[in-house]
Amino acid sequence: MLAEEYYRPLLHFTPVFGWLNDPNGLVYKDGEYHLFYQYYPCDSVWGPMHWGHAVSHNLLSWTHLPIALAPDELGMCFSGTAAVDRGDKSGLFGGKDGLLAYYTIAAEKMPEDIDFPQSQGLAYSSDNGRHWTKYRGNPVLPNPGLQDFRDPKVFWHEPTQRWIMVVTLGQQVGIYRSTDAKQWQFSSSFGYEQGAHDERAWECPDLFEIKIDGQSESRWILIVGVQRQAYAGGSGTQYFVGQFDGKHFVNENSPETVLWLDYGRDFYATQTWADIPQADGRRIALSWMSCWPYANHIPTQSWRSTMSMPHELVLKQTADGLRLHHAFIRELQTTYSNSHQFSDRHYMAEATAQSTAETALFEIEWTHALRLKLNMTLAADSTVVLTPLQGVRFELSALNDELKLRCLRQGASGDEAYDQHFPHDYSLALGANRSIDLDLLLDRCSVELLLDHGLYSVTNLAFPEQGPEQTLSLHMTAGSMVANAEWHELHQPEQHD
Ligand code: FRU
Repeated sequence: MLAEEYYRPLLHFTPVFGWLNDPNGLVYKDGEYHLFYQYYPCDSVWGPMHWGHAVSHNLLSWTHLPIALAPDELGMCFSGTAAVDRGDKSGLFGGKDGLLAYYTIAAEKMPEDIDFPQSQGLAYSSDNGRHWTKYRGNPVLPNPGLQDFRDPKVFWHEPTQRWIMVVTLGQQVGIYRSTDAKQWQFSSSFGYEQGAHDERAWECPDLFEIKIDGQSESRWILIVGVQRQAYAGGSGTQYFVGQFDGKHFVNENSPETVLWLDYGRDFYATQTWADIPQADGRRIALSWMSCWPYANHIPTQSWRSTMSMPHELVLKQTADGLRLHHAFIRELQTTYSNSHQFSDRHYMAEATAQSTAETALFEIEWTHALRLKLNMTLAADSTVVLTPLQGVRFELSALNDELKLRCLRQGASGDEAYDQHFPHDYSLALGANRSIDLDLLLDRCSVELLLDHGLYSVTNLAFPEQGPEQTLSLHMTAGSMVANAEWHELHQPEQHD
């Protein structure tokens, strides 16, 4: 096996070759989950953007399909959306249902007459995304005079009988509406002095309605990407909770409240699947598992970048207000192959002056993919250290009855950008508690951690240098705890096509 293939995840989507970034056009139709994605087939670094395409029945095994959209004389195909046009509201499908895709046309070269190279284009497909026709009247939404005008998310809004588009407008999002999916009118913008900003544009908005868990009421969630100064440094994703009436999004938190969808370094350009049948009712999100400051430099050669595990998002009431909670999709359970568990084990740090000598409390040898669920109740002033694989370390401390998670990652490849930006050391406050549950998913080059029933998601890449055999270990450096655990080796799911 080539060294770089050690890093190819078993259960996460990767391109066979070439470069991948944002998920695009996540839509469900006729039993298939579609995944389109920012793709450059000619090299494993970012280049003129195409839309790659794959389909799945279970969100875990994917069938690669031919490229859906390729650059043309208008420009490259940047990020966007797909939606089912039920009942042919666009008039593009001869009365039948079809698929619409909106993408940002980004002029590849900058002739002198193009000041603002980004506009929104439409493509449509009558055969479940196997063939696409670009709309003759493109762009359907010309640039209003902005450097950053991209990443349209489009959906049908039943109460106003309109198509809605949410799109990056510099450091805000713009909301547009349309009756025929082709002509668009501006409704409003949102974002000025709201949430987290850096000096760059917001990217990849998503807007959707979601029920409050256990209630009949619902809220609207607006997701946006922050390019360089997100929680853990680099690219990251925030969200707003509020109301949407078809024209305006109203944030129900104070403007300065920042809600991070994930607290890791590698969870960006998040989008959710459209048109999942109501009987299923899930809101499933997918993110690009990388970070712009080092994305082009991670240590693989023929392919580069992977998607996150799809997460189910659930909106729950907390003492601080409504918050999204994450769960790995339930389909993951179909990949369990070798399961273990224990309950109520008491652990204590070694009572010597050199207690940091670190005798492992338990160890798991793993090779490809592993899921560990751990529930821990720490005594006051205790610290437990989890090392899931070489180069990554989580330190969980209960100090003054506050739980804190320190996230450390090492790694050097000799590449300047990677060596400078990839290592990290940051912390996350987990509130006044000494008990916590943790759901950890390891898949060769990824470490995805959900904490406190999914209130916190922490997604990070890792490229251990020592090859595929890894040891997960748990140590106590201070105090004591009681733990329950279950863990499962994971195997590649069957391809059902
Ligand atoms: C986000 C992004 C988008 C853009 C795409 C280009 O990662 O910068 O804003 O459409 O990538 O590949």
